[in-house]
Amino acid sequence: MQTINRLEMLRAGVSALKAKGSVALVPTMGALHSGHLALVREAKLRADHVIASIFVNPRQFGVGEDLDAYPRQLAQDQALLAQEGVAILWAPDVAAMYPEGFATNISVSGVSEGLCGAARPGHFDGVATVVCKLFNQVQPDIALFGEKDWQQLAVIRRMARDLDLTRPHVGAIIGVPTVREADGLALSSRNAYLSPEERQQAVALPRAMQAAVAAIRDGADVAASLAALREAVIEGGFSSVDYAELRDADSLTLLDSLGNRPARLLVAARIGKTRLIDNLPVLPLG
Ligand code: PAJ
Repeated sequence: MQTINRLEMLRAGVSALKAKGSVALVPTMGALHSGHLALVREAKLRADHVIASIFVNPRQFGVGEDLDAYPRQLAQDQALLAQEGVAILWAPDVAAMYPEGFATNISVSGVSEGLCGAARPGHFDGVATVVCKLFNQVQPDIALFGEKDWQQLAVIRRMARDLDLTRPHVGAIIGVPTVREADGLALSSRNAYLSPEERQQAVALPRAMQAAVAAIRDGADVAASLAALREAVIEGGFSSVDYAELRDADSLTLLDSLGNRPARLLVAARIGKTRLIDNLPVLPLG
């Protein structure tokens, strides 16, 4: 595996790979766990060569968020990606990604609003801007993202359609199901912030979400099911629930009842100093 941190070298490396076959891009911010590696494995199944990126993107962190504290472990990440057969690791520094004078912002309205967009103003502008740059830098045949960040996936799909990035720039955007710990907690780089006690309590989130999905599918009132979820999460040791909502899986339109289209239950909650997010599919009624 070649680790590259200059754009001219990336372009040369990508051209060489493209001459030999198809290329998949897996964007990350590093501190890799099995969730990230599931993306890489899926990428390997679908393309001849995998390019992973590691860039802790300052533009998607708000004031007072964890940019400085965000875990950075490049050597360990390099070893993991090399083991997975990644061809190129694109690891630019901030100056390479945002050269002096950088002044462009990509803002996707609609799907960026509400949910994490409400609690983290500017976050999805930062995500859209860096992902657009990554698409232009690599121009991969496919790009893979986790369903763990469902709203992010929706924002990226919307941006790619609106800016004509899918075909010819990016062949397809593929969502990969969330990888979880044995007890159901979704893997996240931010789980590293949890104390052992908080880690045990954190399981209340997926448990309450599974119960809410089952209740909604059983015909229970959506508002009542979400209220019960909030209560169970707080009871389980979380300090607050940022949001717990049922939305249309694709448009992210808020739903107050389950219809005949796929829906998604999306939750963000705080435990200690850590904000965790998760989401689950809610299949449409028969
Ligand atoms: P990061 O949080 O490092 O996540 C990189 C990719 O891994 C994202 O597509 C995310 O959805 C996926 N991922 C994280 N946890 C996962 C899990 N438990 N199961 C499956 N996939 C999981 O998301 C970002 O970085 C950034 O916003 C980025 C897209 C790289 C732009 O900066």
